[in-house]
Amino acid sequence: MRESDDVAVGLGYDVSVIRPEVRAQDVRLRGEGFAAGRLAAIRKALRTLHTLELMAQTIYKFQLTRRRDEVNRQLVAAMCNEMGHYQDFQVKLYEYGFGPSRLRWAFWLVGFVFGFGSRALGRKAIFRTGVWVEAKAVRHYAELLEAIDWDDDTRKVIEKNQADEAGHIRRWQELLATA
Ligand SMILES: [Fe+2]
Ligand SMILES: [Fe+2]
Repeated sequence: MRESDDVAVGLGYDVSVIRPEVRAQDVRLRGEGFAAGRLAAIRKALRTLHTLELMAQTIYKFQLTRRRDEVNRQLVAAMCNEMGHYQDFQVKLYEYGFGPSRLRWAFWLVGFVFGFGSRALGRKAIFRTGVWVEAKAVRHYAELLEAIDWDDDTRKVIEKNQADEAGHIRRWQELLATA
């Protein structure tokens, strides 16, 4: 990821908040009056984001070991953050009257392979996997923010989550530099 991308992503979002507050009244039925094409694009994108977040949380879950150290603390924080992202997109899917992708188990499997595989290869592999996956996520988020006519609430959620992914890249790069 280039430095310029990093700076452009997530302005105004506090990435130290790893589980933002959601109030009951924030949950709303969405999509009323939207054109069919717009709804179809939103459904496809939300399913993609939801499955990718399942992969992300699974990677971190399987990178964790029982060691009581700073790396594991950071991995738990990242996992918590990804679980929130997963929840965000699941809520948005159902607010629109859609459901998750039936193929999402395949992304769990990819997450398991990446997570467990990198853990076996050691700390540097863990950080490199994190940087690689998160950089792909940030680009994916940018494409979907650009291509889709989101409702304002959902757009804010996506922007915050993209900022979080950029924060993860910075975290793993810092740890990689000292590993
Ligand atoms: Fe995420
Ligand atoms: Fe992330």
